[in-house]
Amino acid sequence: MKSLLLTCAALICSGALMAQKAPQLRADNIEDVLKAMTLEEKANLVVGVGMGGFSDKPVIGSTASIVPGAAGTTKPIPQLGIPAIVLADGPAGVRINTQRQFDHHYYYATHFPIGTSLSSTWNLQLVQQVGNAMGEEDRDYGVEVQLAPALGLMRNPLCGRNFEYYSEDPVLSGNIAAAYVKGVQDLGIGTSIKHFAFNNQETQRMGNDVHVSQRAARELYLKNFQICVEKAQPWTVMSSYNLVNGTMTSERRDLLTTILRDEWGFKGLVMTDWFGGMDPVRRGKKADRVANIIAGNDLIEPGTEQDSKEIVAAVNSGKLDIKYLDTCVRRVLELVVKTRRFVGYAYNNQPDLVKHAQVTRQAAAEGTVLLLNKHMLPLTNVKHVALYGNASYDLIAGGTGSGNVNRAYTISLVEGMRNAGCHVDETVINQYSPYLDEYYKKNPKPGPLDLRALVLPEEMELDVTPEQVAQNDVAIVTLSRVSGEGKDRTESHYNLTQKERDLLQKVCKAYHQAGKKVVVVLNVGGVMETASWKDLPDAILLPWQCGQEIGNSIADLLMGVSTPSGKLPMSWPIDINDDPSTKNFPAHTVGYDIDTFNRDASKDVNVKNVGYTNYEEDIYVGYRYYDTFKKPVSYPFGYGLSYTTFSYKDLKLTDKGNRILVNITITNTGNRAGKEVAEVYVSAPRGTVEKPEQELKAFAKTRILQPNEHETLTMEVKKADLASFVTSQSAWMVDAGIYTFKVGTSSRDIKESASLKVKAMKHKVHNVLAPQVKLNVLTQK
Ligand code: BGC
Repeated sequence: MKSLLLTCAALICSGALMAQKAPQLRADNIEDVLKAMTLEEKANLVVGVGMGGFSDKPVIGSTASIVPGAAGTTKPIPQLGIPAIVLADGPAGVRINTQRQFDHHYYYATHFPIGTSLSSTWNLQLVQQVGNAMGEEDRDYGVEVQLAPALGLMRNPLCGRNFEYYSEDPVLSGNIAAAYVKGVQDLGIGTSIKHFAFNNQETQRMGNDVHVSQRAARELYLKNFQICVEKAQPWTVMSSYNLVNGTMTSERRDLLTTILRDEWGFKGLVMTDWFGGMDPVRRGKKADRVANIIAGNDLIEPGTEQDSKEIVAAVNSGKLDIKYLDTCVRRVLELVVKTRRFVGYAYNNQPDLVKHAQVTRQAAAEGTVLLLNKHMLPLTNVKHVALYGNASYDLIAGGTGSGNVNRAYTISLVEGMRNAGCHVDETVINQYSPYLDEYYKKNPKPGPLDLRALVLPEEMELDVTPEQVAQNDVAIVTLSRVSGEGKDRTESHYNLTQKERDLLQKVCKAYHQAGKKVVVVLNVGGVMETASWKDLPDAILLPWQCGQEIGNSIADLLMGVSTPSGKLPMSWPIDINDDPSTKNFPAHTVGYDIDTFNRDASKDVNVKNVGYTNYEEDIYVGYRYYDTFKKPVSYPFGYGLSYTTFSYKDLKLTDKGNRILVNITITNTGNRAGKEVAEVYVSAPRGTVEKPEQELKAFAKTRILQPNEHETLTMEVKKADLASFVTSQSAWMVDAGIYTFKVGTSSRDIKESASLKVKAMKHKVHNVLAPQVKLNVLTQK
């Protein structure tokens, strides 16, 4: 008995000693904690926790106990003082569940404008402010890393996720993303810029192999990420689902370490996209976690117990050098110690939703693009309006999938116009209500987490009665499209349907005959065909899907409370087939309907634009193509009208050694207050490689200018940023010669230009990411 007691006492003492010895994580003892961790603990820490339901095997744990509805967490290791931290979507606001068990409170978040709407503002300060407001909601709901911004390049107008993305141009996209990141991170909340990289289509997104030249990769698809990393140092990066030139991005050390960290100086953590790294096409969903770790993909989100076991086994067998695992663990710990949760921040679950509704309402108005205005807008002396088109009664706040937000409400156009003091025609409402009610009874709207896009009813055959025309001052026709994660758009999604054309014709004819005007509102997440019908209405307003205040934001613009100052962040072609990437985009894979989760993906390996996609348009994406090959467009890149007019003068270039300052004075020459964007395009001299006609190198937006007021904008272009990527030398090269700087209000409307001589420069980088197949790339030759 005595000896038993002694043994127990000894055991208790040694346990206490061990507990004493186990270091508790602090910001300054990461190495000690790392040393104290067992191999199993390390392998657990790099495999995160997340939502279930989409994986073959159950994921470890769930986020339910911390922030229900968040996309995931890291794993806690309590004995070392390592808490779990929370990761939540996304680019238009915090995506969490609105309801919790045993709790009657609603946890709504603000639905801010979609990415495309934010970039259409061309206003870095405003985007930073929106980022800040989102960051406040993350902070108040206990989220440590926001899985945003999304900044994939818009390669083709039909990518299902373009609505989350910013632009076809890397300079616009990278700078908008950097402003967003600063806005969120200023509050001590992290971001995860995504999806790194080449996620430019949704069709077979987990197994599509992007075949791209090193030049297009460097100048376009990586450039936006580079700008964002160098300017804003996001806390984390999310690798993409797809492969590039034969290898999954999450397994490419050349991408995640050589380029991202060694060349660009990224200091944070890389995580997979959710259940990423599988390659269902070539490997039947067999992730290679060892390859992820070696590549520098530090966190698997979310993973399985099997993933951790494989990592342990690989270290034990010598297949995985522990130094790679230690590097990933270190980065997870470095992230954890930066968070508010780690320092015990008491979040209150009470974000200021009223304040943020104002932020989204203003940002939405500034991201709206006025495409056409034949002396119609702003509406003056208008009291009675008739609203046509399904979407007038069911405006779409944002896209579907993880970029959606569980908002409390969406302001409809009826509410928005009524709030603005207008009378909305009840006879038209009475035609639409039963039709829409009936449709939604039969086709319930998908839940916010449903990756499939909501399908709107077809436009109904409606009577535009003489009474309606007589009673109303103007007609508003709203046309909409929903797009989202998991599915690309098709050519018919891009074109108007026959029923939409009929509606437009009918309304325009009836109102025009009475000398009254018609405005079309485009409530869409991406580019639409406009060339064939834009002569019909008197004005076209493009508010995109600009968040929960959309009805109010549109009314503010129509009634002249705000003046539009948005500019297109992408080109609007005449025909979708004018775009050189369309022939290598899933839209043309006839009869193929992707069902990412349920189809036998192994059949896709040789299916063009599904198993693999050739980026044959190469560097000629968007306006780089249209402007170089002199192709007409419906609306050019950078285009957008205002209710006032502006003059541009005194363009001045100042050589400051390794940078060039660009000054331009913009004066409001009209009779309403407004803001204007200056877009700086540069044409390079002939040189080592062929070059696009011009490229956006800088931009800036004025403050609100009153009539006759002016502002001198100063922008900066680094000489190194005039370089092209020369693949044969693996170098960024600035050719010596005369560079023309053109300041315009779109890529096709240049107001002032000036030239400057620049000396040759060369900056060598690593020769990585080479294509494995020969690409038949587009050239000017
Ligand atoms: C999306 C990511 C998102 C993640 C977590 C994925 O399906 O591609 O953008 O952050 O889910 O919700």
